[in-house]
Amino acid sequence: MVPRLLRSAARQDGGVASSFLPPIASPFRLTVGLRRIAATSWIDADDNYEADLVERERVLDAHRDDVVQSLATDASRSACAELLDVLVASLPGAPAIWARSEGGAVEVVPTGWRLESATTTDPLDAAAHLVADDLCVLDGETLVLLAGAVCFPNRWRLSDKLGRAVTDIHDPVPRYRDELGDRVTQVLTKLRPDTVLERRNWSILLDPTLHQPEYAPSLIEHVDTDAGHIGELAWVRVERQTLRRLPQSGAVVFGIRTRQRKLTDLGDDDRDRLARAVTELPADMAAYKSLTGLRSALGDIGRRVSGRPPS
Ligand code: HEM
Repeated sequence: MVPRLLRSAARQDGGVASSFLPPIASPFRLTVGLRRIAATSWIDADDNYEADLVERERVLDAHRDDVVQSLATDASRSACAELLDVLVASLPGAPAIWARSEGGAVEVVPTGWRLESATTTDPLDAAAHLVADDLCVLDGETLVLLAGAVCFPNRWRLSDKLGRAVTDIHDPVPRYRDELGDRVTQVLTKLRPDTVLERRNWSILLDPTLHQPEYAPSLIEHVDTDAGHIGELAWVRVERQTLRRLPQSGAVVFGIRTRQRKLTDLGDDDRDRLARAVTELPADMAAYKSLTGLRSALGDIGRRVSGRPPS
């Protein structure tokens, strides 16, 4: 039987397979929005995967110590070693991306980076090079963040989150502690190693750079908010987030695969749904997402698509 928390995504708006956007509750509410996926779909080599591996390599070159961090504990070390094992075993059969050789080495074809053996001295670093997904490793009981390889953060820094429990990590998110905190803790605590879960979230940024650790609402609030102008500048960033428990260490792995599209490249239905979601955001969430000043312009874009009259 599918637990109640996992079914909730199906009750939300949308859920159309071809949609770039996740389901978005209307009227607004924070949702857990998890669904179960096949373990073979954990790492999904989607259409921009090769280009993003190359960009990841650039970020690792420039910011290695900011984007790959771990606690110096045995629990963290053994969880990271297991993460790499599970990751290597989970790579999809996509020879244009991962080429395996007889001795067990894996080459990341778009970047030329090579993993000679899964028993490397720095498995977290290896995991960071191997996939375009960002990876966070949480202690299986305390849900404290033990380690992370996060090259494409959406306005947060690993150093602010390492060593903190999942509810505290979400402190900047309005309503999270009251409306989602207990339910997320419950899902993570009960997660079994044979279950892989997925949820997606959305944001709008005016810059397609994948590595965006700075939280700078003022940048987005001071652009010309004419609807046509915003339509040209805006990028819709969707995170496909996955959760799974490693069988040996019991650690929970939170994966984040970031994809983005220009707002003007979304289908009509997605644009209309997005415009409605933006206009329905309560003030605290709009401020958190740095969208306060853009709400009416984004609403206009949706209305143009749907033919709805201006309110
Ligand atoms: C079912 C599990 C989870 C749910 C429902 C959830 C929900 C959320 C929501 C609603 C936001 C705000 C995003 C936005 O609207 O722009 C958020 C942000 C965030 N989440 Fe989660 N989350 C979950 C699991 C996790 C886990 C396991 C981590 C572990 C690292 C995590 C790390 C973060 C971080 C770092 C942010 C950004 C916080 C900031 O702005 O400083 N989340 N999450």
